[in-house]
Amino acid sequence: MTEKTEYKHADNLPGGDNVIVDFEDGIAWVRFNRPEKRNAMSVGLAEEMNEIFDALEVDDRCGVIVLTGIGDAWSAGMDLKDFFRATDGLSDVHRHRAYRSTRAWQWRTLMHYAKPTIAMVNGWCFGGAFTPLICCDLAVTDEKAVFGLSEINWGVIPGGVVSKAISTLMGDREAMYYVMTGEKFTGARAKELGLVNEAVPAEQLVERTRELAKILLEKNPTVLRQARMAYKFARYMDWEQAAEYLTAKMDQLAFVDPEKGKQEGLKQFLDEKSFRPGHGNYTRE
Ligand code: COA
Repeated sequence: MTEKTEYKHADNLPGGDNVIVDFEDGIAWVRFNRPEKRNAMSVGLAEEMNEIFDALEVDDRCGVIVLTGIGDAWSAGMDLKDFFRATDGLSDVHRHRAYRSTRAWQWRTLMHYAKPTIAMVNGWCFGGAFTPLICCDLAVTDEKAVFGLSEINWGVIPGGVVSKAISTLMGDREAMYYVMTGEKFTGARAKELGLVNEAVPAEQLVERTRELAKILLEKNPTVLRQARMAYKFARYMDWEQAAEYLTAKMDQLAFVDPEKGKQEGLKQFLDEKSFRPGHGNYTRE
């Protein structure tokens, strides 16, 4: 258990050193915990994240994840010493394992995670940190947080999978501009660039993120999961494939949803006339 922070790591969960998790009414606050290194991501941090995400997926205390940082950084990107320099000296096999560990949580897991995820960017966000930022479902930032694709300024390219990740959210002109100049930008600009949903004043960041998490917690979790997956896969299909896939997905949802949300929603709208989708949510048991 770390001595570095006021946050207490939850019981019966892996991690607690480079990453601290605490629960609050269905929200799992997953906090990068290397404030003295501006939450730079080391191999050790990746290993903890993998174990934590694996555990949270089946932990009933967690309905939604908020990924944030302790201290004044969200994350200063890959740890230049404990990831880059350290892995440069490894054998090919061990380097492969370190990279696999990082890729696992930063995008493979986050992109298709069973529960919704929100990045809450509380400060510095550089380089490799763009990958988990982009792979969270939603993102809220402090409007004054500082973002940067700084790689060009110290002799590398936006690697890992950063160049690919930014191309999914940023326009080509803007992405190329920041890749080529390494210029920093604020949270307010990150909102304009489509990297985050909202940029808010620092003092509203936690409350706004909590509000958003609560909205997600009120939804039928099975429908929410299927809607997230449907969007993420459909966007890479052509229209014909997407139409077929989404129709099949809708049928699958009716089959796997224990709440039978569709029947309930139709009943409340058509028979009982107790709700209008345009005015609110159907009433869940
Ligand atoms: N990798 C390894 N260590 C890092 C790091 C990173 N990406 N970012 C910060 N640190 C370390 C610093 O080396 C320093 O360690 P030390 O106390 O042992 O010297 C400590 O974190 C504090 O950093 P410092 O630079 O003193 O903090 P700051 O508040 O003045 O500046 C940043 C914060 C984020 C602007 C600055 O640390 C920085 O530019 N980091 C690198 C960002 C980057 O380019 N990341 C891309 C990596 S892919």
